Amino acid sequence: MMTTNPATRVGQVAGDASPDEPLTISVIGASGHLARTKVFPALFALYCQGQLPRDYAILGFARTAMTDEAFRERIEQNLTCRYTPEHDCAERMKEFLARCIYVQGSYSSRDSFLDLFEVMQRVEDGKRTNRMFYLAIPPSIFTDVAAAIGDAGLVACDPGQPWSRVIIEKPFGKDRRSSDELARSMASVFVEDQTYRIDHYLGKEVIQNLLVLRFANAVFEPIWSREYIESVDICWAEDSGVEGRGGYFEEYGILRDVVQNHLLQILALIAMEPPDRFEAVRVADEKVKVLRSVVPVSIDDVVLGQYGGAGDGSDSRPGYRDDPSVADDSITPTFAAVRLHVANRRWKGVPFHVIAGKGLGSRFTEIRVKFRAAARNMFCEAAGCPESNELIIRVQPDESIRLRVTSKVPGMSMSLKARDLNLYYKDAFEDEIIPDAYESLLLDVMQGDKSLFIRHDELGA
Ligand code: BG6
Repeated sequence: MMTTNPATRVGQVAGDASPDEPLTISVIGASGHLARTKVFPALFALYCQGQLPRDYAILGFARTAMTDEAFRERIEQNLTCRYTPEHDCAERMKEFLARCIYVQGSYSSRDSFLDLFEVMQRVEDGKRTNRMFYLAIPPSIFTDVAAAIGDAGLVACDPGQPWSRVIIEKPFGKDRRSSDELARSMASVFVEDQTYRIDHYLGKEVIQNLLVLRFANAVFEPIWSREYIESVDICWAEDSGVEGRGGYFEEYGILRDVVQNHLLQILALIAMEPPDRFEAVRVADEKVKVLRSVVPVSIDDVVLGQYGGAGDGSDSRPGYRDDPSVADDSITPTFAAVRLHVANRRWKGVPFHVIAGKGLGSRFTEIRVKFRAAARNMFCEAAGCPESNELIIRVQPDESIRLRVTSKVPGMSMSLKARDLNLYYKDAFEDEIIPDAYESLLLDVMQGDKSLFIRHDELGA
């Protein structure tokens, strides 16, 4: 159980807030990579779609000394015009950037956050204003920053006041102990209702479609079990290596960077039982149950590796240990293949292969659900036994859902080949823009919708 403080009620009351209420968004760590490449572009995209309240301000907070102009120039470099016709875009950027204000300070200093508070009060101008804090900073300083935010009085605590919500991103600790400790110290400032733990994979379109695919189509549920499914592969590959992020990666490795969060979330959505209602609480309850059914991994079911260098001359790519931020004798895994088992009636005996690697030949995320072969197949003699069916869900890039089915090859003879029934997002939804995961997730935070965020017991599981 989380500790409770009066702010619990703030989160609850706040769910009813009108989307038109003024909003101040503070991005802590505003000069960092995450803020520049994901958070600000997502906020701009929301602005272009009319999803920010009329009355909003964005405060960037970081250590670097910078003027507002320099800050805006930095932000601008990553804004895109996806939602705005070209001729409108420059104008929209100008409007958006005019609302971005920079505050320089130190992360653990209450005084620095009092400076932020001063700017906040100036822009809020005495109006009832909701507050969102995005901690785009390393988890090692979450606690200090949260404490400084709390001490400076930035978090609304009284019932009936506008809401205050905080967004944090993994890694949430390195093991059970450090994760629990982080949760405890964060909870003394922001209670569970106010805490939004992002796993940005949950904001990806195809991942959001998993529950719809499984439970809105009558054809899948009857065959979604050990009786018909032989194995499930969840594959994640990146062509790039750590590229300067070695400092972080050395400490966490691929298991904590990608497997524990993004890929286990996918596993949970593929394997969970149907919630009785499509509600954040019920979905999280089912995810927790299935995660708790995952059998502790045996070392015999794990393969770990590390990418080496490849190629010659201009084509060459450095290996993991060639990265200046990585120790020469590092044994941190950049690749993992793990066989997991879910010990419940639906999945007993079905292996879930979770495979992830950096520095590989290509970049993709894919789920492959392999069905069992038909017990007796009348075509085996005449045309060779057909391949078993496979459902291939491509999360990225080129989002698609394909069902491999066996078909007769046109012609006079009886010959069979596996071919795909395709749902290519680009063709099927040609008029829709696929939003970036952060756009969907930030909008959810504003709306108080926690369905795509990690609950504390889920994190524990
Ligand atoms: C992050 C990992 O969570 O996800 C990175 O820390 C990884 O190592 C990234 O590169 C991948 O995200 P995406 O959205 O590009 O697939």
